[in-house]
Amino acid sequence: MDSDIKSDFLEVVKSALSENIFVKFTLGKYRGGEDGLENIHINPVRLKEEIKLAFRYKYKTRDVYKNYSPEESLSIIGDELGKNFLYGGLFSTKNDFVIEYNKKRVPRTYTRKASFNRVDIKEHNRVKTRYIDSKEPYLNLLGITNAKGEVKGDKYDKFRQIDKFVEIVSSLIKDSDLAEKDKLSIIDYGSGKSYLTFALYDYLTGRQRVKVSMKGIEQRSDLVEISGKVADECGFKDLSFINNSISGHKQKDADIVIALHACDTATDDAIAKAVKQNAAIIILAPCCQKYIRKQLNVPEELAPVFRHGILEEHLSSFLTDGLRALTLESLGYTTKIFEFISGEHTSKNIMITAIKGEYSEEKYMEKIMQIEKLKSKFQLKDYYLDKIIQPEN
Ligand SMILES: C[S@@+](CC[C@H](N)C(=O)[O-])C[C@H]1O[C@@H](n2cnc3c(N)ncnc32)[C@H](O)[C@@H]1O
Repeated sequence: MDSDIKSDFLEVVKSALSENIFVKFTLGKYRGGEDGLENIHINPVRLKEEIKLAFRYKYKTRDVYKNYSPEESLSIIGDELGKNFLYGGLFSTKNDFVIEYNKKRVPRTYTRKASFNRVDIKEHNRVKTRYIDSKEPYLNLLGITNAKGEVKGDKYDKFRQIDKFVEIVSSLIKDSDLAEKDKLSIIDYGSGKSYLTFALYDYLTGRQRVKVSMKGIEQRSDLVEISGKVADECGFKDLSFINNSISGHKQKDADIVIALHACDTATDDAIAKAVKQNAAIIILAPCCQKYIRKQLNVPEELAPVFRHGILEEHLSSFLTDGLRALTLESLGYTTKIFEFISGEHTSKNIMITAIKGEYSEEKYMEKIMQIEKLKSKFQLKDYYLDKIIQPEN
């Protein structure tokens, strides 16, 4: 009877795999003898043209990955259930289906409404993207890949984001006068865990053979210390990390200024610095645009739409970023605003790029008028950037 319950459960797992509605599977409540093992998370991955199941063995302090064919996976799940693991959870697009064993190892099954409505098959984690190679040591030292150079299951989105970012910066450089320069000076404001900083440095100095002097400015000393150690270990001698606030960093010039996910007005601090440092390229991925929200007065004719909190929040973000772009344009920059990675993985996916061009009084006046109209429309006293910006020219 108990074995029927388990066989029926395994049959459902098998069907989910053959019908391509298998989203993921979890083995939990580990009662076996392996030290530190907690769960196994199983996800479909595409390896070359084949579908495999990636098993993430989650230990207290580390993760171990193994890939198996669907048949091997079913056999492992069958062996483990009721023996070493007392919980098995199948997530399919039809429903969630659970088998649980009590202390006497008596199973029961139940279904729940499906938690997922689509199957997301990841590319295999040894994938070599166009711009960064998962085998690069810095990725392992920063925790994105394991010792074999395989991207960790939960770091895929970060890995893709890094690759996309390097692609964008590389093409901006290629299309600018900086392509002719012998040495590039780059500042990354709010470098945080520095994944993107390392990736860009490695790409430019390693693959493109460009001389680069790069600095990550970060207010958290623990992150500065870790990033500094990783840079030393990788022999990245022209990459350094400085423990300072963005506004406190003193540097005369920079070719490229980056500020990714520097929260709220930290992005404005970075813009103000970049302008002062005469940066040819500015790359921003703003987040948490809160500053103007407190002052925002939605015009009466727009109020029926923006009475909803979430829409007002988006309006506030769009206005903030639009005003930032207009400010940069007033100073001769050409700007673009776009989604740089799919919004499916993160909501912090808006990028602003600004390329320095000729400054003209006429353009300045035109943009300032547009800014002032917007400020007056939304009754904004200021938008922070306008208070701190000090153009070099
Ligand atoms: C969300 S993290 C982003 C890290 C990295 N740029 C990325 O995109 O992966 C933002 C980082 O900016 C730092 N930060 C925020 N405001 C700052 C400021 N005014 N000065 C220096 N660092 C700042 C935070 O400490 C944090 O590490």
